[in-house]
Amino acid sequence: ARGLDFAERRVLISAGPTFEDIDPVRFIGNRSSGKMGFAIAHAAARRGARVMLVAGPVSLPTPDDVQRIDVRSAAQMHAAVLGQLPADVYIGAAAVADYTPREPAAIKLKKRPGQDTLTLELVRTPDILAEVAAHAQRPRLVVGFAAETDRVAEYARGKLVAKKVDLIAANRVGVAGCGFESDDNALSVLWPDGGCELGPAPKGELADALLDVIARHWASR
Ligand code: PMT
Repeated sequence: ARGLDFAERRVLISAGPTFEDIDPVRFIGNRSSGKMGFAIAHAAARRGARVMLVAGPVSLPTPDDVQRIDVRSAAQMHAAVLGQLPADVYIGAAAVADYTPREPAAIKLKKRPGQDTLTLELVRTPDILAEVAAHAQRPRLVVGFAAETDRVAEYARGKLVAKKVDLIAANRVGVAGCGFESDDNALSVLWPDGGCELGPAPKGELADALLDVIARHWASR
């Protein structure tokens, strides 16, 4: 039994994908169902946290006792997350689009005769996780995710250092049965001088196991 070990703590969580509009009918986006982040929100609320969930476009019900802000794009998620600081813990489980069309069209783009290719100009989106970690109101613990298809631990450790976060939960994506959309996942949780493996397990169990790691780090600070 974990009891109410997160009582009174403000936990801010991002979940789901972001969609970046090309025109009023088309978008580019990342693969994410929101299940991982919603499972963490649910588990944190059960453990007594005051949970704010910033959700990209997903079709999931809001967990009990969780407050939710719905957003669509990376720019909206950025504004919503920063607008919710201060918080005690930030957990970035969202799959934020890294690039967005420079200039979304106001009306539907038409296919012209003979036009067989289309080039979109994309610009970088703000790195929400890195900004939260560098913010004047930095949460005491900033936890990122890393979704990798290969060299998972190496790339994840790079993100831990580059984004100056306290913990990174790395998962392999692009294989069946974990990562995006599935009900199960496995996480390699890394911190500057250590790490641990969680799962494979249902996302609900992993959420509690990740919160256990977060609680231990909280206690040692
Ligand atoms: O939603 P599910 O279907 O349950 O799938 C769960 C998941 C695979 C989406 C989740 O476990 C996960 O790995 N989420 C992070 C996905 C991701 O985009 O990872 P990344 O390696 O590209 O980004 C690294 C970190 O930076 C993440 O914490 C991300 O939220 C953050 N980031 C990235 C880009 C950006 N512009 N802003 C950010 O904050």
